[in-house]
Amino acid sequence: MTGRLPEPVELERWEGVPVEQWRARLDVPRIIALAETSSTSDVARALAEQGAAHGTTVLAEHQSAGRGRRGRPWLARSGQSLLLTVVLRPLHAHTGTAASARPALRPLLPLRVGLAAARACETACGRPVRLKWPNDLLIDGAKVGGVLCEAALGGSAGPYVVAGIGINVTQREEDWPTDLDAPATSLWSAGTRRPGRDELLTLLLPAMVRIRPDQDWTDEEYREIMERDWLAGRTVRLEDGRTGRATGVRPDGGLGLEVDRRPIVIHAGTVRPIGEAP
Ligand code: BTN
Repeated sequence: MTGRLPEPVELERWEGVPVEQWRARLDVPRIIALAETSSTSDVARALAEQGAAHGTTVLAEHQSAGRGRRGRPWLARSGQSLLLTVVLRPLHAHTGTAASARPALRPLLPLRVGLAAARACETACGRPVRLKWPNDLLIDGAKVGGVLCEAALGGSAGPYVVAGIGINVTQREEDWPTDLDAPATSLWSAGTRRPGRDELLTLLLPAMVRIRPDQDWTDEEYREIMERDWLAGRTVRLEDGRTGRATGVRPDGGLGLEVDRRPIVIHAGTVRPIGEAP
């Protein structure tokens, strides 16, 4: 044993189609499909540090150390999910100080990515997909996918965000561990259709490439995010133990709440619904 991890095995075909054909079809600079890796976001980050262009995409059949928000693991058996990370670069070259070069990871970026994923999932599976601030995709209140965006300065290559998305596609109810802290589902379990991962990627990637970390959301995106907002009107518990009522996603991407009869906005963290839906 040398203790070294095996080199990632790059696939020539993904879902039966040459990877180069996917790249050309979806009009992105590069797609790397891996049989296994620690995390697609690790690979995308390494590529971005070497100068990978906006739209560079990493796919994996399996992740040995897939991660979710707040240090949680993201677990998925091989081939059951769409696991991808896309390198997003700001549209405008940076001219300020190093400190301000970090693309602002405002909560609206994961929400924009989540909206792109929700639209793709909804079209593919035929069921409404809602967004739970700040990064969850839900069908009937069960989690079908999640988004993890990480920003970095990128040295001489310039600032970037790696936008990681995991979507549960073919899992059956019995595939989920019994100790999940929130219900999970898949497009196949919850949908009226059983889409392939190829269809999902075809719907999702062109929308991802339109997202630039230095751009605000459009009025239409914001309106749709509010329409898909699963928390709005629900009674929730904040991380500090207080309870309140979610009043909806704010124009800056924060979550509006009413706590102790006062309006507040949070920009990070997690809230958990308590009690019944409004
Ligand atoms: C969450 O719900 O907490 C976010 C989950 C994000 C998972 C995806 S899977 C592809 C990419 N690689 C990772 O390690 N994480 C993201």
